[in-house]
Amino acid sequence: MREYPFDYQKLFQFAASDPYQEVGDANQSILNQLEGLRSELNFPAIQTDIGLFIKFMLVYWKPKVIFEMGSGYGHSAFWFLSANTNIEKIILTEKRSDLKQKFMSVNWPARWQDKMEYHQGDAFDTLSEIGNIDLALIDGVKGDYLKFLLALKNHTQSGALVLIDNSYWRGSFLDDEVVAIKKSPQKIKELHEYIAHSSEWESLFIPFVDGLSILRKI
Ligand SMILES: C[S@@+](CC[C@H](N)C(=O)[O-])C[C@H]1O[C@@H](n2cnc3c(N)ncnc32)[C@H](O)[C@@H]1O
Repeated sequence: MREYPFDYQKLFQFAASDPYQEVGDANQSILNQLEGLRSELNFPAIQTDIGLFIKFMLVYWKPKVIFEMGSGYGHSAFWFLSANTNIEKIILTEKRSDLKQKFMSVNWPARWQDKMEYHQGDAFDTLSEIGNIDLALIDGVKGDYLKFLLALKNHTQSGALVLIDNSYWRGSFLDDEVVAIKKSPQKIKELHEYIAHSSEWESLFIPFVDGLSILRKI
C-alpha cells in the first residue's frame, strides 16, 4: 500500500472522535436511520464531523436554495435541515437508481419533506434546469469536481458558497508519481490549481477527515 503524506487512519480516528457530537433527541432517530443505511449499503456518506460543522455554520450562512451534487439516500441533506434555518429548497441529485427508494424509506419530518426535491439522475442535467443557488455541496465523482464547479458559474452570485467534500483525496494529488498514472488524483490536482488561482472564488481548506474546501464567490 502506498504511503501518503501523513497517517491517514490516525487522522480519521482523531476527527471521528469529536467530543461535541450532539444533534438533539428529535433528530437523533433520523440520524440513526441514516447511519443504519450507511452501514447496510457500505455507503460513503458524509462524515459526522463535517455534518456537525455544516449544521453549526448554516445558521450564519443562511442559504435559501441548496444544491447537492451526489446525495445518495439523503445523509448530507440531513445536516442542512437539522440546522433549522430558513431553507426554502434543497435539490438532491443522485445518479444511482437504487437510492431513491432508500431515501423514501427514511422517516423525514413533513416540514423537511416539503423542502427536499430528489432528482434521480445526473446532477449536470438537473443543474441546467434550475436558476440561482446560494450553496452547493459537491460530493459526487471526484473526476467531475472541477467541471461541476465551472458549471456552477451561471447559477451563483457574489456571496454564494460551495462546499467540496473529501477535497484532500488522501493527499494523493501531492504525489507526482500517483498523479502521473491515476486519473482522480490528477483531476483533484487540477481542481486545487484552479481554485488556488481563481479570481472568481475565495477559498478556505479545512483539514477535517479527508478535507473540506469552502469557496465563496467574489
Ligand atoms: C460520496 S457519495 C455522496 C454522499 C452524500 N452527499 C451523503 O452525504 O450521503 C457520492 C454519490 O454521488 C453520486 N454521483 C456521482 N456523480 C454524480 C452526478 N454527476 N450526478 C448525481 N450523482 C452523482 C454517486 O452515485 C454516489 O452515490
